[in-house]
Amino acid sequence: MIDKNSPLPIYYQIQEMIRKKIETGQWQPGDMLPSERIFSEDFDVSRMTVRQAVTELANEGVLMREKGKGTFVAEPKIEQPLQGLTSFTEDMKARGLEPGSTLIQYRLRTAPGKVAEALQTEVETEVYEIKRVRLADDVPMAYETTFINLELAGDIPEDVENRSIYSFLEQERGLKIGDGEQTFEASLANTEEADKLAIEEGAPVLLIQRITYLEDGTPLEYVKSAYRGDRYKFNIKTKRFT
Ligand code: GLP
Repeated sequence: MIDKNSPLPIYYQIQEMIRKKIETGQWQPGDMLPSERIFSEDFDVSRMTVRQAVTELANEGVLMREKGKGTFVAEPKIEQPLQGLTSFTEDMKARGLEPGSTLIQYRLRTAPGKVAEALQTEVETEVYEIKRVRLADDVPMAYETTFINLELAGDIPEDVENRSIYSFLEQERGLKIGDGEQTFEASLANTEEADKLAIEEGAPVLLIQRITYLEDGTPLEYVKSAYRGDRYKFNIKTKRFT
């Protein structure tokens, strides 16, 4: 299967072979890869070459390395379109996954400076601070801290843990959510994020901040989320300006 006379580098050929085995379902998520030694003997290539192929696929998130255990086929990443302002619940349902949350914190407080600025209110304004681990089929995907202006939302029941905040605000409060503004940053999981997301401290996460506005332009929520870098990728269709 490896063609040493091909102009394609050998590590690349190994990579493509691994990809094919995963794409065709021959290797399933969670399956352990043969060791570097076995790989290199089977293909008669150096262990360095095998390592290069595996490292690149691990960096892409196709494979997953576990210290002291081996290298495994990773779960495919969730591909999240960026068009449309959707809720986590809607996103997961659209994929046939069961959305869920674990409530970490739920309280009313005065808005911290940055939150007051984002929500265009005073620092004395009362806001909900709701921290949730967002789950898909019981697997932690994102750790979110949501700040919502009490004056706009009214009382938010604590059992919102098990429901969608957006559907509560829209259906029970009759609020009309309009658009949102989001920023994305690369980051490394801190101790709390790592703990809540069941990943290693320092693992890559995508930090997303969203301000969501009502149709009349009033800021409704300010959300900081850490999405698992190994489980998520985002896509957007773009058009060239003419
Ligand atoms: C996504 C967004 C958040 C938003 C949340 C609402 O996760 N990143 O900004 O607050 O959806 O989700 P739900 O309605 O499921 O509670």
